[in-house]
Amino acid sequence: MQPRDKKKLAASAALQYLEDDMLVGIGTGSTVEEFLLAIKERGLRLRGAVSSSRATSDRLRALGIEEFALNDVGDLPLYVDGADEATPQGALIKGGGAALTREKVVAAASARFVCIIDDSKLVDVLGRFPLPVEVIPMARSYVARRLVGLGGQPVWREGVVTDNGNVILDVHNLRIVDPRSLEQEIDRIAGVVTVGLFAHRGADEILVGGEQGVRRILP
Ligand code: A5P
Repeated sequence: MQPRDKKKLAASAALQYLEDDMLVGIGTGSTVEEFLLAIKERGLRLRGAVSSSRATSDRLRALGIEEFALNDVGDLPLYVDGADEATPQGALIKGGGAALTREKVVAAASARFVCIIDDSKLVDVLGRFPLPVEVIPMARSYVARRLVGLGGQPVWREGVVTDNGNVILDVHNLRIVDPRSLEQEIDRIAGVVTVGLFAHRGADEILVGGEQGVRRILP
């Protein structure tokens, strides 16, 4: 089975959380794309969606799903998004698609965060996937030095500008045994906009697509 098929399985399983006329927070990435396609295929009628990126807004428009601004709607009942890595405890690495800041905001504003992944992303310890950190451009080099001080090897994702006009440092060689404290520590570095560690507000449920179907993890 290809990773894309496993993503599809997880995405379809997330349809069970949708209700008619619901307003849903929508993440970013290929698994979320499968989720949006599944919504259309099943003919589900949402009130609309709050998007976490320009890329997702484009997809919503193409599929005819109405987009609402978070500022206009208040808190959301549900946020559905993928991840780059996830632990069974619900801590995540996100930001492979550079959308981490808006993803973190929409996740924070949502009562329930359902994370949809294929089984290659489920790990015991986060860090094999380089940790994305969104940084304001003039602070790039300063933040990189601080990240080296934390034991990582930051690499500038050259050519990428986030939806918020910032840059991304991908931090290699971290073995993240305590995601909550590392999230806090990196958040404290001046110039950091968002670290792609989602530990304080991690996933409430993880749907993992694999050869045997979908496994549901309740952290
Ligand atoms: C986007 O910035 C990321 O956080 C995505 O959620 C993550 O990269 C998952 O992407 P895929 O669903 O494409 O694997």
